[in-house]
Amino acid sequence: MQGRVLLMITGGIAAYKACFLARLLQQAGFSVRCAMTDAAQKFVGPVTLRALTGQPVATDLWGEGQSEALDHVEYALWADLVVVAPATANFVAKAAHGIADDMVSTLLLASPCPVLVAPAMNDNMWRHPATQANCATLRERGVHLVGPGSGWLACGTVDEGRMSEPEEILQAVKDLAATIELRPDETPSLSGPWAGRRVIVTAGPTQEAIDPVRAVVNRSSGAMGYALAAAACAAGAEVTLISGPVDRLAPRGLKQHLKVGNAQEMAEAVAASLDGGCDWLLMAAAVADFRPATAADAKLKKNELGETWRLDLVRNPDILKEIVPDHRSDDTVVVGFALETGDVVNAAQAKLQEKKLDFVLANDPTQAGSGFGDTAHQVTLVDPDGVVWESESLPKPLLAVHILDRLEAARHGAGA
Ligand code: CTP
Repeated sequence: MQGRVLLMITGGIAAYKACFLARLLQQAGFSVRCAMTDAAQKFVGPVTLRALTGQPVATDLWGEGQSEALDHVEYALWADLVVVAPATANFVAKAAHGIADDMVSTLLLASPCPVLVAPAMNDNMWRHPATQANCATLRERGVHLVGPGSGWLACGTVDEGRMSEPEEILQAVKDLAATIELRPDETPSLSGPWAGRRVIVTAGPTQEAIDPVRAVVNRSSGAMGYALAAAACAAGAEVTLISGPVDRLAPRGLKQHLKVGNAQEMAEAVAASLDGGCDWLLMAAAVADFRPATAADAKLKKNELGETWRLDLVRNPDILKEIVPDHRSDDTVVVGFALETGDVVNAAQAKLQEKKLDFVLANDPTQAGSGFGDTAHQVTLVDPDGVVWESESLPKPLLAVHILDRLEAARHGAGA
């Protein structure tokens, strides 16, 4: 069995049973991610579900690091089916009326896939005409309901309203899953080899001031570096993202996001971050090799510059070559990027030797499907012995996941 289940947990005492349900679903072969309401978190901590599923738990629509990756779209589109267990009377009412005022109800509204709801509430709440009408609305809309059953309720009575047992819900999920197309889950797990690894990623260009309004920059969107940072976060790494000026949202779950302007600032940020301890340095930034010899304090006026203008440039520090060796530890794996045209592999290997890198990810921007601004990209992973892996042309977020897999394998000598 494969398939991706988004398990939504709302605030009832039966929330603790959702932990068993998550386990049962995994044992049945489903990939599980969780979303929890504030009330659900009064009964069970998200840390428990995160540990069980190996994935971040969607909780807060607005909280630090949560809204940026637009979880309500990402998790909703990831799922093959949604299970709401337990579903409180309040949540059933919100679902019936399309209210989206927190992470879980917003995710539900954004989920185009089949939905299975396991109500759990006090017997009077269950029998209330409002709840019954809401359940009827959901059924008419194609939502599947399982339970509630009868038994001991938290309020001390024995009656209808008790959430179906996890085994029963699992069976209902399997029945529903048999009727739809299921996809494998390619997300790396938080318990995988990147979990807890300290990763520094640099991304974007650096901007070298000519005057307050002009600058020398490299062309770089930052997409690859941000995708690597996002993939490393999703894989459970502790990620510090050092970014030049780009217009991008930070990936969810970063440990640190250091925004820098020019190459010297990036060099300082890399040195300080390496000093704090680092297992992997992924140097994806397009650092400007030169900067203006002097940056004018006031805007240079074109009439004063004349018809031609010579700009004196001086070399910036080569961060990988001149800064990293004094701050890395022997265990830090250093990965450089090389943008090359022509004999890409030889040029990448020369760069690897010159800068004493463990790996280089090389690419040729003149190749179709790998150019500036292309969303898809092709890379060649090179180590001191030669080519380790050549990727297909893939969208950068997916390519980043493959790159991490290959780097981790190559580090242990299991290459292509
Ligand atoms: N890099 C760096 N410091 C610089 C320039 C580049 O650390 N001042 C890093 C980049 O982040 C990248 C790698 O070095 O990981 C290779 O960058 P690239 O621009 O391809 O190579 P250069 O060293 O600048 O060499 P050349 O311009 O001759 O190709």
